[in-house]
Amino acid sequence: MKILGIETSCDETAASVFCTERGVLSNVLFSQIQLHQPYGGVVPEIASRSHIERIPQIIRQACDNAQTTLDDLDGIAVTNRPGLPGSLLIGLCFAKALAFALKKPLIDIDHVHAHALSPLIENPVPFPHICLTASGGHTTIFHLKNHLDITPVGTTQDDAAGEAFDKVAKLIHLGYPGGTVIERLARSADFQDFFHYPRLKQKTLDFSFSGLKTAVLYDLVKRGAYDLTTKVFDDSTNDTLKTRVASSFLVCVGDIMADRIGRACDTLPDVRAVTFAGGVACNSYLAERIQKCAAERDLPFFTPARHYCTDNGAMVAFAGAQKAVKGLFAELTLDIG
Ligand code: KG4
Ligand code: ZN
Repeated sequence: MKILGIETSCDETAASVFCTERGVLSNVLFSQIQLHQPYGGVVPEIASRSHIERIPQIIRQACDNAQTTLDDLDGIAVTNRPGLPGSLLIGLCFAKALAFALKKPLIDIDHVHAHALSPLIENPVPFPHICLTASGGHTTIFHLKNHLDITPVGTTQDDAAGEAFDKVAKLIHLGYPGGTVIERLARSADFQDFFHYPRLKQKTLDFSFSGLKTAVLYDLVKRGAYDLTTKVFDDSTNDTLKTRVASSFLVCVGDIMADRIGRACDTLPDVRAVTFAGGVACNSYLAERIQKCAAERDLPFFTPARHYCTDNGAMVAFAGAQKAVKGLFAELTLDIG
């Protein structure tokens, strides 16, 4: 069975063909990062206009790379929730038009579930397991009983983890997106915790990153590096401060994630593995912290290849194939969620 996966929920236009017998046959992507960089974050209007320009070529390329014609496909899977409405609509309308014209089944995909399934694309992860899915728009611990039974057991109460990386990076003028730069600076400081930002003491499986971002801000004010009235970071401060903020912030996020994953493993006794997915899973420091948590409990740990961590079409095609084998298809009246 061959499924086309289409992803346009945020700032990547992506498509892939997944074959249930041979795995990922193609994975094509156009990243809009450069279009949004001057604004320090994703601009929804720019995102949807770019998706509509790119999507025909991206889908054609995905089929060509997979040496597949549209007629060979057994289904069209598309992310229809959650995401930027204008961006989701481009992918959804394109998928519906293809499904209608080709008389192929349409498959609706939850973007966050697709992230949570992404470690399974290339690894035989045993069920049930837990997955920490952390990216720019979401941070959730899922309990997966099988490919289709996916339950959130903990989630963020405010900002997503990746959003916190991006906001802290913006605060200290590190550019967008912030995750990779923060990781690079933190590594150069050997992941030392210089500033001891506060950790939430509550025993919970939920996350709260907005408080951490505010703690970083007020710590900078205390150090005379940020003016609260003008809302300006003093860029003349030496690079050592930026490095120390980045390192202390990353260690704090690592402590929070390790605490929640440890607690999830201990409260869900049937867990047989731990996985880490989403753009933030590109962070090897955080991956190592979570792996350690799993190893302490004799559980195997899996994280996808980097190109399956950040938004991509393969995770949508893969999730689509899991629904297609069970005959779970959507109507052509499907809307964005
Ligand atoms: O999954 P993704 O590509 O898009 C969303 O669904 O949001 O994740 C993007 C997020 C951004 O916030 C980015 O800063 C973060 O992933 N990210 C990282 C790293 N690489 C990307 N965060 C921490 N460390 C990284 N190395
Ligand atoms: Zn995502």
